[in-house]
Amino acid sequence: MGFTRRAAVAVVGVAALLTASACGGSDDGGSGSSKVEVFTWWADGGEKAGLDGLVNQFKTDCSGQEFVNGAVAGGAGSNAKQVLASRLQQGDPPDTFQAHAGAELLDYIDAGQVEDISSDYDSWGLKQAFPQGLIDNLTVDGKIYSVPANIHRANVVWTNKKVLADAGVTADPATLDDFFAALDKVKAKGIASPLAIGKDWTQLMLFESVLITDLGPQKFTGLWNGGTDWNDPTVTKAIGDFKKLLTYTNSDRDALDWTDAEKMVMDGKAGFQLMGDWEAADLDAKGFSDYGWFTFPGNNDTFQWLADSFVLPKGANNPDGTKCWLKTVGSADGQKAFNTKKGSIPARTDADPADYPKYQQSAMADWKSATQVPSCAHGSACSQGWQGAANSALGAYSTNQDDAALQKALAAAAQQFASK
Ligand code: BGC
Repeated sequence: MGFTRRAAVAVVGVAALLTASACGGSDDGGSGSSKVEVFTWWADGGEKAGLDGLVNQFKTDCSGQEFVNGAVAGGAGSNAKQVLASRLQQGDPPDTFQAHAGAELLDYIDAGQVEDISSDYDSWGLKQAFPQGLIDNLTVDGKIYSVPANIHRANVVWTNKKVLADAGVTADPATLDDFFAALDKVKAKGIASPLAIGKDWTQLMLFESVLITDLGPQKFTGLWNGGTDWNDPTVTKAIGDFKKLLTYTNSDRDALDWTDAEKMVMDGKAGFQLMGDWEAADLDAKGFSDYGWFTFPGNNDTFQWLADSFVLPKGANNPDGTKCWLKTVGSADGQKAFNTKKGSIPARTDADPADYPKYQQSAMADWKSATQVPSCAHGSACSQGWQGAANSALGAYSTNQDDAALQKALAAAAQQFASK
C-alpha cells in the first residue's frame, strides 16, 4: 500500500501523460493519487489507437483523474508480462493492468494479486451487459475480478489482395490442401516466403489453428481441459501439417514480432499471415487497405476467442481512479471508443454493428453463430506457465524440427500445468 517506487523498466510510451481536467487537480492533495497508471502492451499502431479511444472516453467520464500510460511494447505481452510479474512481486502494482480472461486471469486471482469487484458489477449493471459465457470466464468461486474490454478472434488469415491476384489465387482456401495449393501458386510467382510469421507465440498461434483443423473444436478444447491426450495421433498429424506450413515461411521468423511479419504482407513480400484480428486495426492504422481475410482453412465456423480485461490490483495507489477506468472500460461508450479502433468486437451485447468497420461487422455476426474455442497463446485456454512452456517448445521446434520432441514437450507441459 501507499507510495511505492516505480520499477526502472523499459517503458515505451511512458510519460504520455494526458492532462487532468479540472475538478480535483493535482495528485498531492493528501487524499491520495489522482493518477491512473494503465499497464498494457498497446504501444503502437492499431493497439495504441484503441487505447487512445478508451483514454478519450476516460477523460470525459472521469474528470479529475489523470491517465498515465504504462505500456510496454512487444506483441502478446512478450515483454510486458515479465515486467508486470516483477512489479507485482515487488509490491509495486500499476493502478490497473491488462489480463486475458480465462486461465491467465486465474493466475492473478490464485496469487491474490487482484481485488474482487463483484459489487461494482452490480452497481454498473455489467452482469446483464456481457454474455454469460464470458462472465463465467471471469468468475472464480462466485466472485468477479476484471472487466472485459473486448473479444478478439485469433484464427484469422490476413492477405495481400494484389499478391494473391497476381498469383491467380481467386478463392479463399477452405481446406489445408487448398491452402498448400494457394501457397504454391504464390511461391511460383517468386515470393520465397508466401506465409509470413514471427517468433514463438506467433508460431504457437499457427499451430493452434492447425490443431483446430485436424482435431476439430471439441477435441482441440480437450487439449486444455484434460479431455484430449497430447500424445493422440491427431496431434502427430497436426505437427506434420504445421511442419509443412513452416516450409512456406520466412527463415528469419524467430527474430520477428507480429508487426514485422505483417510488414512483409504489406510490402508484398508475403501473401498470407495467420494473426489475431488486432491486425485489421493495425493495417488500417498504417494506411494499408488492400487486404483480405478468411478463417484459417479447415477451422470452418470455429471462432478462437480471447478477451482483454482490466483488473484492480491489490495495493493499487488510486483505487477510486482505477474504478472509474474500469467503469469506462465496461460502458457502452467505452467499448465503442475502444473496439472500433482495435479490430476486436465489443464484449457487451448491446452494441450496434453499424458503428463498426467492415471486418468487425463480419466478426460480430460470426461470434453469434460460431463454435467457440479458447486460445493458449492469448491466455484464455492455458495459464502463463503453460503458455511459456508451449512457446519454448515451439521456439525449439522452429530450429530443430523434431516432431517427436515437440509432441513430448507439449504433453509434458500439459502434465505439469493442466491441473493448476
Ligand atoms: C492481446 C491483444 C493484442 C495482441 C498483440 C494479445 O494477447 O489480447 O490485445 O493486440 O496480443 O499484441
